[in-house]
Amino acid sequence: MEMQELLEQVEKYKIVPVVVLEDAKDAEPLGRALQNGGLPVAEVTFRTAAAADSIRAMKKAFPDMLLGAGTVINVEQCKQALDCGASFIVTPGYSEEVTEYCCNNGIPILPGVCTPTELMAVVSHGLPVAKFFPAAQFGGLKTIRALAAPFPQMRFMPTGGVSEANVKEYLEEPKIIAVGGSWMVKQDKIRAGRFDEIEEMTRSAVALVR
Ligand code: 3PG
Repeated sequence: MEMQELLEQVEKYKIVPVVVLEDAKDAEPLGRALQNGGLPVAEVTFRTAAAADSIRAMKKAFPDMLLGAGTVINVEQCKQALDCGASFIVTPGYSEEVTEYCCNNGIPILPGVCTPTELMAVVSHGLPVAKFFPAAQFGGLKTIRALAAPFPQMRFMPTGGVSEANVKEYLEEPKIIAVGGSWMVKQDKIRAGRFDEIEEMTRSAVALVR
């Protein structure tokens, strides 16, 4: 997948569900809930040992889903995620090695930033979008506007503390291409197998930003 295609899709969906899966058996029902709820997109985080298998299982069950790997902190994880079918990479902070690897291999990446210095590093790779993380703790919209001022070409995907209460406000800002968030894919609901509720939460999220 090309960077441009990723950005178009992310902008269309407006929300990228940030998923933590502890057991790869949950990947398929979760993918179904997201798809049925109207958000066939996920950032599956490498925060658990089940991440790679979960990406593989979700991709197999739903080949058309836009599937990325999140919390990627080194090239090894990056390669593993790509092998399992991830189409894009998200990093929580700026990693030179991961960003360079992705840029050199034509893999779309959304590197995490929360300071001008990190943003400068991302800009130096010629990338057009950064993840702003953790958004709420680092000043939310006000900080995004301030960071965007010296980098008028850059856009952002704020993640961390985005919820039903503030998602619309974030998305009204033209510098924001989409938001990332876990409010519709809560871990306790995944653990309890309440995929019908996840689907409902996803549907509400979509209705809110339509
Ligand atoms: C992430 O990994 O990007 C965030 O933890 C998601 O943040 P949230 O749980 O506050 O939505």
